[in-house]
Amino acid sequence: MSVLDVVDLLAEISDIGRDAARGGYSRRVFESPERELRAWFTRHAEALELDVSTDRNGNLWAWWGEPRPGAVGTGSHLDSVPGGGAYDGPLGVASALAAVSWLRETGHRPAVPLAVVVFAEEEGARFGSACLGSRLSVGAVDPVSVLGLLDDRGVALADAAAEAGIDPTGMGADPTVNELSSFVELHVEQGVGLADTPHAVAVATGILAHGRWRIRFTGEGNHAGATRMEDRRDPVVAAARLVLDARDLAAAGDAERSTRATVGRVEFIPGGTNVIASTATVWADCRAEDDDALADLVRAVSIAADAIASVEGCTVEVTAESVSPAVVFDSGLRERIARAIGDDVPALSTGAGHDAGVLAARIPTAMLFVRNPNGVSHAPSESASDEDCRAGVDALTRVLADLTGAEAASA
Ligand code: GLV
Ligand code: MN
Ligand code: MN
Repeated sequence: MSVLDVVDLLAEISDIGRDAARGGYSRRVFESPERELRAWFTRHAEALELDVSTDRNGNLWAWWGEPRPGAVGTGSHLDSVPGGGAYDGPLGVASALAAVSWLRETGHRPAVPLAVVVFAEEEGARFGSACLGSRLSVGAVDPVSVLGLLDDRGVALADAAAEAGIDPTGMGADPTVNELSSFVELHVEQGVGLADTPHAVAVATGILAHGRWRIRFTGEGNHAGATRMEDRRDPVVAAARLVLDARDLAAAGDAERSTRATVGRVEFIPGGTNVIASTATVWADCRAEDDDALADLVRAVSIAADAIASVEGCTVEVTAESVSPAVVFDSGLRERIARAIGDDVPALSTGAGHDAGVLAARIPTAMLFVRNPNGVSHAPSESASDEDCRAGVDALTRVLADLTGAEAASA
């Protein structure tokens, strides 16, 4: 068997989950494109003689060696945002397969087990809660509180999981994750930190605090022609004002506290051209350099929402959907990685959330970023050159060989 090439691996899945309407990929957890990707992963992992299983939270595990505490983990996710790029998630999974294949083919044998993990619902694109598989596994979220989460077609998480063969009543904290000795996630860079440098790979320092808030304005549904402008209680107008206020509040603090606020999703009920809506919901994605700055930003957005609602004759309800504290990755592991791949490896922080960030609260965790020439992510034009993807695999391979103490039989 020959060594797997990350570029070939990504090419194999390049038609799965394409979104003709949005462009890019829409690969929602437990739906058929994502299940096809799981089957693709399983085929490759089994061909590498790894033992593959799905855990209680729908995460896939491929084991090289008998599972036991002290194992090393690597991997990422296969789900995507709506209309996402080809690299966010799959690059980390394909790179892990390629790294394991190289280690096996060159006769390396890890002294501790190595697990390749594919986390479920990292983007939260289907059920609204980011990094759900990893957060359930580390015990950061109460399983009972998520089973009833609904997707946009009204399907409950519990039913979607059951249909995918996962017993929803068994979801919850999983010792296997919490007993890993370390976890390393390789990811396409989401920014231009490497774009103008000679470096193809960086190591991560930390992640902004971030979360999602559902802000629902309720007004009065009515007729678009028969209702005088002064008689309206239009929640869409309130939502529009809130979008601008959230942008302005975050922009005022971005330089000092990295405050960011984004509304990328809105829903108007009933949503008719000639109908004043009865409710307008905006989802605000808020981020900041630390937990206090994030709390301040969300407080300011909530106060703005209250003020706007009262001016527009509406009511408003603000609900947190998922919140992730700021992450500082383990400095010892970062230094060890730098030694394994070259001390001049740049260090970068990121505004994007990751399963590695969730695990960082429990175990030493690190990330490798692969150069992204235009910095774009969560969009079809996300990219990384073939050469850089292979450089990423090379770096990950060295790191995994070091962390697992994998000696080459022939070395
Ligand atoms: C995930 O990629 C996120 O940052 O939302
Ligand atoms: Mn993402
Ligand atoms: Mn990702």
